[in-house]
Amino acid sequence: MPFADLREWLEKVDRIGEIRTFEDVDPELEIGALTELSAEAKGPALLFDKIKGFPPGFRVVSNLFRGNKRLLATLEMPIDLNRRQALRRWMEVISNFKPVPPVEVKSGPVLQHTMTGGEVDISVFPAPRWHELDGGNYIGTGDLVIVRDPDTGWINLGSYRIMNHDRNTGGIFIQTMRHGYAIAKKYWKKGQACPVAVSLGNDPMLLLAAGDTVARTAEKICEYDFAGYVRGQPVEVVAGKLTGFPIPATAEVVLEGDIPSPEEELRPEGPFGEYLGYYAHGRLPELVLRVKGVSYRDNPILIGKPPLKPTFGGRTSLPLSLANLWNRLERKGITGIQDMRTISGASALVIALHQEKEGHVESLIQALGELQNIHRLTVIVDDDINLDDPRDVIWAIGTRSEIKTGTHFFIGVSGDQLDPMMPPDVREEKGIFEFTRSVINACRPYRRLHDFPPVCVFGDAWRKKINDKWGTGLFSPGGS
Ligand SMILES: Cc1cc2nc3c(=O)[nH]c(=O)nc-3n(C[C@H](O)[C@H](O)[C@H](O)COP(=O)(O)O)c2cc1C
Repeated sequence: MPFADLREWLEKVDRIGEIRTFEDVDPELEIGALTELSAEAKGPALLFDKIKGFPPGFRVVSNLFRGNKRLLATLEMPIDLNRRQALRRWMEVISNFKPVPPVEVKSGPVLQHTMTGGEVDISVFPAPRWHELDGGNYIGTGDLVIVRDPDTGWINLGSYRIMNHDRNTGGIFIQTMRHGYAIAKKYWKKGQACPVAVSLGNDPMLLLAAGDTVARTAEKICEYDFAGYVRGQPVEVVAGKLTGFPIPATAEVVLEGDIPSPEEELRPEGPFGEYLGYYAHGRLPELVLRVKGVSYRDNPILIGKPPLKPTFGGRTSLPLSLANLWNRLERKGITGIQDMRTISGASALVIALHQEKEGHVESLIQALGELQNIHRLTVIVDDDINLDDPRDVIWAIGTRSEIKTGTHFFIGVSGDQLDPMMPPDVREEKGIFEFTRSVINACRPYRRLHDFPPVCVFGDAWRKKINDKWGTGLFSPGGS
C-alpha cells in the first residue's frame, strides 16, 4: 500500500529500522553535523525533535535517501535490490511512464493552521544552519517550489534552496536554466511578480520527482503526474489559500506568496555548502520570496536535505537518474552496456561495456557526445571491471587506455552555475559557463580481446575452494 505523506513514510522507514530520533538538538550546526556524519557512515534517516528555540513537536527530518533501502521503499521497489538491479528496474519504470494527474480534494491536514497578512512569521519553523561557513539559516533545502505557467497553465515543481531573510521574506536561488525560472520570467515580462507556493515537508516521492534526482522530467510533464504514476495512485491536492495552486493536501508547511523580478528586488544570499561539495556561489544578490500566507499541520515536520560533499554518496545512495541516460543510449542503438554508476556523485561516470564489434566503444563515445550529461569525466571500461571498486576502475585506466588517442573531448558544453571552476565574473553576471567534457576509453582494444594478456587473479572456483576449506572471512578485517 503506497504511503500518503511524510508521516506514513516515517512509519514505513521505522518498520525497516532505518530512522533514529534525536532530541534537544541545536539548529545552529548540530543538526547539520549529525546529518553529515550519518550520511558519511551510510547511517539512518534522522528525526530531530525538541529543537532548541522551537516548541516540542516542530521537527526536522534529514538524511532521507542516503540509504538504499529507504530510497527503494520510497520508489515502491523491493528494498533488497542491488545497485544494478535497481537501475535496470528503474529504467523500465521510467520508460513506461503514463501521467497519473493529481486529484483535488476539498480539504486536508495542511489547512489545520494558517497565518495571513501581519501574522506571517516563517521564523516559527526550525531552519537549521547546516554547515559552518553557511551565511544563514535555510528553511528550504528539501522543498517543492510550485509555479504555474501563465500561458499554458502547466504546473511545475522544482526544488530550490531558500534562506531565511526575515519573518516574511526568504532568499531563493533558482538557476537560470530551470523551468521554474523560465516560468517566473513570463510574469516578470508582464510587469508582475511570479506567484508561488512552497511546500516544506511532503511525501518524499514528490521531492525525488521535483528535484530531478531519479528521472529527468521533461518540459510539460508535471511532477505530480510522475509521482502519481510511480505511486500507483494520484497525489491528493488542495487549492492553496492564496495562489489557488494545487498543493499537497498532506503537506506539513506551505508558504504562499510571490517572487518579484530581479529588477524589482534582489538581496544577498549564501554562502551555502552546495551539492558539488563547495561554496562556489558565495554571497551574491539573488531573488526573494515574499511570503504572504502560511498553512501548516499540527506539529509540522520539515524536510532538511542539505547538500553534502558528494563523496558521501550524492543526492541519493543509488544513482537512479542514470536510468534516463542508459535508456537514451539504448534508444540510440547502443547495445552491450552492462552497468553504469557515478563515482563521488556527479563528478565521474563509469560505464561497463561488453564489446561486441570493432568500433563499439567509439559508437558509445559518439552517442555520449550527442546527449547532454553533466559529468566532466566519463570512463568506459570492459565488463570484467568492478564498478563498485574505484581502484579497479583506476587500474583499467592505468593498464588499458592510451590517453593520447583514447581520450575524447567535447568542448563547449554548458555547465552549472555551482561548478567551482566557473570564473567568478561569469557567475556574478549569471553568464553561461562552458566547459570541456572528456571520455576515456579504458577498454582493451577489440582486435586484441582474445590475445590481450590475461589478468592474473584467482577466479570464483578457487575462491570457493579456499572458502570451503578454510572458512569465509579468513583475511577480512578482524579475521586472524
Ligand atoms: C535537494 C535539492 C536541492 C536543490 N537545490 C537547487 C537550488 O537551490 N537551485 C536550483 O536551481 N536547483 C536546485 N536543485 C535542482 C533542481 O531542483 C532540479 O534540477 C529540478 O529538476 C529543476 O526543476 P525545473 O527545471 O522543472 O525547474 C536541487 C535539487 C535537489 C534534489
